[in-house]
Amino acid sequence: MPSVSDFIERPFPGFGLGLRKEHYEAVLAERPAVDWFEILTENYLVEGGKPLYYLDRIRAEYPMVMHGVSLSIGGTHPLDFQYLGLLKSLIDRVRPLWVSDHLCWTGVGGINLHDLLPLPYTEEALSHVVSRVRQVQDFLERRILLENVSSYMSYPESQMSEWTFLTEVAKRADCLILLDINNIYVSARNHGFDPSEYLLAMPSDKVWQFHLAGHTEHGQWVIDTHDHPIRNEVWDLYREAARHFGPVATMIERDDRIPPLDALLQELDQARRIAGPFWQEAA
Ligand SMILES: [Fe+2]
Repeated sequence: MPSVSDFIERPFPGFGLGLRKEHYEAVLAERPAVDWFEILTENYLVEGGKPLYYLDRIRAEYPMVMHGVSLSIGGTHPLDFQYLGLLKSLIDRVRPLWVSDHLCWTGVGGINLHDLLPLPYTEEALSHVVSRVRQVQDFLERRILLENVSSYMSYPESQMSEWTFLTEVAKRADCLILLDINNIYVSARNHGFDPSEYLLAMPSDKVWQFHLAGHTEHGQWVIDTHDHPIRNEVWDLYREAARHFGPVATMIERDDRIPPLDALLQELDQARRIAGPFWQEAA
């Protein structure tokens, strides 16, 4: 079990939602009981127009965190400093609580595969990722959070588990972790490991955010679709995480078949009901 000192550095802004354009007007009109919003970085790397109009107005009312998909921290191509420059400008505009991306690679040879692909979990890949995270953090002048992706394939070259790899990246690069509870569940089902083993292996002081999302059952396989309500198995794993880690910023992540805002607020209340009793004890 983590000790109380593990929680001291970790901020706890409460329970958030992913900001989606379908809800811009409702958020401004209704000022829902959301503690913070997570924005998708790439939607706001633009010169002007509606996204920035709503971003500034909603930011004036709510704290925000930024979540990107373009870093390709595990890629073998050089880091894209043009992208990082745009990211830094957006950080200056939004003043987010923190900035995250994914532990993955997204392309090779200048081709973007538009997917968040898992890495081979080798010492060589570990050194490569650690070096790149350090470069990114030096450039941005802040620590970043890296999120575990869901996966449907693995590499025979892997020398360690995903949870060991992620832990080592966080320790050696001095970065933080966005733990997607649904992605742990999806990958556990697809690869046949115990999701609790993954969860409990995470370094508690490094885990600053949880994602909760829905997935789709396909019998033998589970697909990380983000277009359904959160399933009971994922709520169960979240309960275990809440008990183990103490207060961690928690967010509902819906990317497709976006329901009315009220439906997501109800899911957020469910997260509050599940975690609340454990976190009152920890406070
Ligand atoms: Fe996620």
